[in-house]
Amino acid sequence: MTAETARQIVLASRPKGKVTPTDLRLEETEIPAPGPGEILIRVDYISLDPYMRGRMDDVKSYAPPVAISGVMTAEGVGTVIQSSHPDYVEGNIVLAPTGWRSHALSKGVGLRKLDPAFAPVTTALGVLGMPGFTAYAGLFNIGRPKPGETLVIGAASGPVGSLVGQLARDLGLRTIGVAGGPEKCAYVMEDLGFNACIDHRDPEMAAHLATACPNGIDIYFENIGGAVWQAILPLLNTFARIPVCGLIAQYNGAAKSGDDRLPQTMRAILTRSLTMRGFINFEFAEHYPEFLATVGPRVADGTIRYREDIVDGLENAPEAFIGMLEGRNFGKLIVRLAH
Ligand SMILES: NC(=O)c1ccc[n+]([C@@H]2O[C@H](COP(=O)([O-])OP(=O)(O)OC[C@H]3O[C@@H](n4cnc5c(N)ncnc54)[C@H](OP(=O)(O)O)[C@@H]3O)[C@@H](O)[C@H]2O)c1
Repeated sequence: MTAETARQIVLASRPKGKVTPTDLRLEETEIPAPGPGEILIRVDYISLDPYMRGRMDDVKSYAPPVAISGVMTAEGVGTVIQSSHPDYVEGNIVLAPTGWRSHALSKGVGLRKLDPAFAPVTTALGVLGMPGFTAYAGLFNIGRPKPGETLVIGAASGPVGSLVGQLARDLGLRTIGVAGGPEKCAYVMEDLGFNACIDHRDPEMAAHLATACPNGIDIYFENIGGAVWQAILPLLNTFARIPVCGLIAQYNGAAKSGDDRLPQTMRAILTRSLTMRGFINFEFAEHYPEFLATVGPRVADGTIRYREDIVDGLENAPEAFIGMLEGRNFGKLIVRLAH
C-alpha cells in the first residue's frame, strides 16, 4: 500500500437546483481492512455520470438516493491490493461499484475483471462500459434502426451519443448529432463521421435541424429534453421511435424553456403513431455479452472511436461533475486518482 489514508467524497447537502461545490465534501478516513472473503481495491479511475445528479435528490426513482454524508455512488476501475476472496488475487484489475473513493472493499459482487490487452481499462467506464451498453441496448431494442432512415442523437460527443451515432452510421442511417459548441460539432462530424451536427446553443438550432433532416426523423434517441425536444417534435415522422434515455437539460431543475409542449407531444404521439419508450440500461442486461462481443473488437480495431476527458485528483471530482452537467466535459468524464 502506498497511501497512508483513504479519501472519499460524500454528499454534504441536497442541491437546490444546480449542484454547488459545498454540496459535496472530501473526507479522509482509514484505509479499510478486508475481512474474510473480501478484497481491497485501490481505485485508479472513477466514472462521473449524469445519473449521479438524480441520486443527490431524495425523490422516488429507479434507485435510492445517496444518504446525507454517504459516499457518492460510482463505478470505478482499480487494482486488487489485498484479497482473501478465492476468485481474486493481488494485481487483478477490476471494474467495481466503488463510489467516489480511493479505496473500496468488495465481496466480489458486481465485479468484472479487466484485461488491459483487450482495450485500455478506462474504456470499461465509457465506450465498453455502462454508457456504451446504454447506447447499444437503446438503439437496437427500442430504436430498431433501418438503413436509409434518419436518426438524431443529443450529447453526441459523449460516450452514449458518440456510440449511438457510430452504430447508426455503420448501418447506413443518416446520422445527425446535437452538441454544444463548434468544437464538439466538428469532432462529431469529422472524427465520428456523422452526416451533420447541430449546435444546440445556436439560436437558429431548430432551423438548422430541419435543414439537416430533409426527410424528417425516424429515430430520435433522447438524451437531453428541454429546448432540443421542442425543436425535434415537429420533425418526427409517422412511426418514429424515441428511446428516452436521458433528460440532462432537466436534471438541475432548470429547463423552463418557454412553452409547455406537453399537449403537442401527446397529440404527435397519437396522430403520428410515435413510440416513446423510456429505459434504464440494466433492463437489457442479458445483452451485455453480445454488446462486448460486437463493439469490443471494433473499438480495438479503431472503427469505433471514443474520446475521454480525464481529470486528475479526487479533490477535483466535484468541479468536474458540476461542469459535466453544463457541458464542460468533452468526451467520457473520468477522474484519475493519484496514489
Ligand atoms: N437510461 C440509461 O440507462 C442511461 C445510462 C447512461 C446515460 N444516460 C443518459 O444519457 C445522456 C448522455 O450521457 P453521457 O454519459 O453520454 O453524458 P456526456 O455526454 O458525457 O455528458 C453530458 C452532456 O450532456 C450535454 N448537456 C448538458 N446540459 C445540456 C443541455 N441543457 N442541453 C443540451 N445538452 C446538454 C453536454 O454536452 P453538449 O455540450 O454537447 O451539450 C454534456 O457534455 C444523459 O442524459 C444520461 O443521463 C442514460
